[in-house]
This record gives sequence, C-alpha cells and structure tokens, in this order.
Amino acid sequence: METHFQRIGGEDPIRGMVDRFYDLMDENPDFYGIRKLHGEDLTESRNKLFMFLSGWTGGPQLYMEKFGHPRLRQRHMPFTIGEAERDQWMTCMSRAMDDVGLDDKLREELKAAFWKTADFMRNQAN
Ligand code: HEM
Repeated sequence: METHFQRIGGEDPIRGMVDRFYDLMDENPDFYGIRKLHGEDLTESRNKLFMFLSGWTGGPQLYMEKFGHPRLRQRHMPFTIGEAERDQWMTCMSRAMDDVGLDDKLREELKAAFWKTADFMRNQAN
C-alpha cells in the first residue's frame, strides 16, 4: 500500500507544504496568536517540521535520525495551546495543503490525522 509520503509526492511537495504553512503563519495577522509563540527566524522551525513530517507520513525518519524521538506533546508544553491555537494551526495547514494542490481525498485524510495530533498538543482547557 502506498504511504501518505508517496501519495503526496515525496520530499519536495512536503517541503513546499511546510514553507507555505509558515509563510501563511508569518504573513496573515489571523495567525499572530501562534506566530508569536515562535522565534523571529522561522528557518529552524521549517526544517524541523519538514523532517518530522517526512517520517510522520511514512517516509524517511529524518527527524528521528537527527534529534531522536520527538516527544511532541512534551516539547509543546512551554507554549500555551488551547482550542484557538489548535484551530489556527489547522487553518494554516489546511490552506497550505490546498495551495500545493493535494487531491481532495488525500487532503481529507491528512487533515483528520493532523487534527488528532494538533488536538493532542492542547495543554489548556479553553
Ligand atoms: C496545535 C497547535 C500547535 C502550535 C501552537 C505549535 C507551536 C509550536 C512552537 C511554538 C514550536 C517551537 C518553535 C519551533 O521549534 O518551531 C513548535 C515546534 C514543533 N512543532 Fe508544533 N505546534 C502545534 C502543533 C503541531 C503539530 C500538530 C505538529 C505535528 C504534526 C507539530 C510539530 C512540531 C515540531 C516537529 C516541532 C519542532 C520540535 C523540536 O523542537 O524539535 N506541531 N510547535
């Protein structure tokens, strides 16, 4: 069976999706709530999310090879993440998936998977 990594089209489109995701977050004031949690320079964030998503979609485990197990929930603990932050993150990622032109079925599957992970990152009750 084909992995999500293969269906997206490999590393280049995943890179494109991550770049679009952070460009949207950086440019649109609607996403200031999560943009402000990040440092000024997003280069490292782009690299890490790209490496993570490569493995998360069933491709090469680039993040694990370089940094070890991501322990994502724990890594997000220093940031206040409630429903608003989760929803901003999901909106950026959904638009990024639209903009790189993933087909509808693949996009819906990924959206459902992203939502579960994003919801799991919540550490505030609101
Ligand atoms: C729910 C809303 C989320 C918010 C507000 C959020 C915010 C952040 C922030 C502020 C950082 C630290 C800055 C950085 O290193 O880039 C970070 C790191 C990271 N996030 Fe998120 N994030 C969210 C959800 C997610 C989801 C759903 C994923 C994966 C599908 C994810 C994957 C990562 C990765 C891989 C890192 C880098 C970890 C490291 O430092 O090695 N995040 N996130």
